[in-house]
Amino acid sequence: MAENQNPPSFTLTNNQTGEAVELPVLDGTTGPSVIDIRALYSGTKHFSFDPGYGMTGACKSSLTYIDGELGQLMHGGYSIDELAEKSDFLEVAFLLLNGELPTKTEKEEFDHAITHHTMVHEQLNTFFRGFRRDAHPMAILCGVTGALSAFYHDSTDINDPFQRMVASRRLIAKMPTLAAMAFKYSLGQPFNYPRNNLSYSENFLQMCFGVPTEDYVVDPVLADAMDKILILHADHEQNASTSTVRLAGSSGANPFACIAAGIAALWGPAHGGANEAVLNMLSEIGDRSRIPEYIKKPRDKDDPFRLFGFGHRVYKNFDPRAKVMRQSCHDVLNKLGIKDEPLLDLAMELEDIALKDEYFIEKKLYPNVDFYSGIILKAMGFPTSMFTVLFAVARTVGWVSQWKEMIEDPQQRIGRPRQLYTGPAERKYVDISAR
Ligand code: CMC
Repeated sequence: MAENQNPPSFTLTNNQTGEAVELPVLDGTTGPSVIDIRALYSGTKHFSFDPGYGMTGACKSSLTYIDGELGQLMHGGYSIDELAEKSDFLEVAFLLLNGELPTKTEKEEFDHAITHHTMVHEQLNTFFRGFRRDAHPMAILCGVTGALSAFYHDSTDINDPFQRMVASRRLIAKMPTLAAMAFKYSLGQPFNYPRNNLSYSENFLQMCFGVPTEDYVVDPVLADAMDKILILHADHEQNASTSTVRLAGSSGANPFACIAAGIAALWGPAHGGANEAVLNMLSEIGDRSRIPEYIKKPRDKDDPFRLFGFGHRVYKNFDPRAKVMRQSCHDVLNKLGIKDEPLLDLAMELEDIALKDEYFIEKKLYPNVDFYSGIILKAMGFPTSMFTVLFAVARTVGWVSQWKEMIEDPQQRIGRPRQLYTGPAERKYVDISAR
């Protein structure tokens, strides 16, 4: 085959000096190509400026693909709709960690390994007891996850592939246990040990809702819904928390510390904290008669209010996860026999009005995954403060997969963005007596 004589590139020309620099184009498997600006400074003595990194590809990744215009999300080339319908959470976890769906033997080995790593060091119980009972479970989860590096020294050498694998599996296995412990601690109930005869999702429900005084029977409808929620949240390419994990990991920090950083970033209401914020917002709206008032609020430039559960940095058509979650939400409420759920009615009405509203149409604001997840979780019996914790349990898979991919990337270097300095230019120190 003849070699391409003219590989694609862009020429950037300074309109004052006429000096030009050629910037090569890099192609991915699918989706927009990127302009490689690594030679930008040497060629122009300028940096790029992109607050929020909305236009910047910070890494190569083969895990997850999102097409925001088409409303498409794929892991390893498999669409999220298909994975949510046909796969299970641990299979998706294997796919993200290894790039391929597992064979039957690989799946059995992986399920067995994760199941047999779910127990946490007994001394972590004592660690929990240092928290106030009314502490937010995200605060607890962030703290105890960071503390894991103090308990599992034998898997903190990031340069050893075996230790990386053990740490990844430990994090995926132990996160539901820690999340359930945070929940139980807030209730003042004893911690439940994991049970190896249950699936990942069943076990999580058992640890959250079981009590020692009676046998806990897992409802298959709830276990199935939980598994779907976990699949839908498993990974979402270079979002804020994942980028945080990559940035923390780029310095060589151990994986437990990096995932704790990811949990902290996820907590914010613009990210994973939105599912909690949606429910709080619906309660605040209270009645459908007040919806128009809330729909108008974002138009007021002086009002920082945003409709939680709407909008997305990448999806400008619809969020494919929200489509699956919306259906799942109805299924769960139906199967649980919850006929009149005022918050769901209110959410549906709000969605309907917002989708027809000029402002929301113009800004391409559609319901995102968090708009529905909170309603399902509420129906399952979780308090709002636990919603983001469940997101963290699911996203741990994405975080560790992305962290591992980064460490194994030969081009990986410490993350170190530049800035446009706007402070005072150099000046002389003035003694305090003269100020
Ligand atoms: N309600 C009202 N107006 C909004 C909303 C909203 N939810 N989201 C964006 N806008 C407006 C925003 O004010 C801006 O208006 P203008 O052009 O007049 O300044 C315009 O739409 C573009 O918004 P942006 O802030 O530039 O968009 P972004 O890509 O930086 O933010 C977002 C994306 C998800 C942070 C934002 O849409 C938002 O804050 N949504 C509410 C919080 C939420 O539901 N987050 C969950 C996201 S999905 C799960 C996850 O990622 O964790």
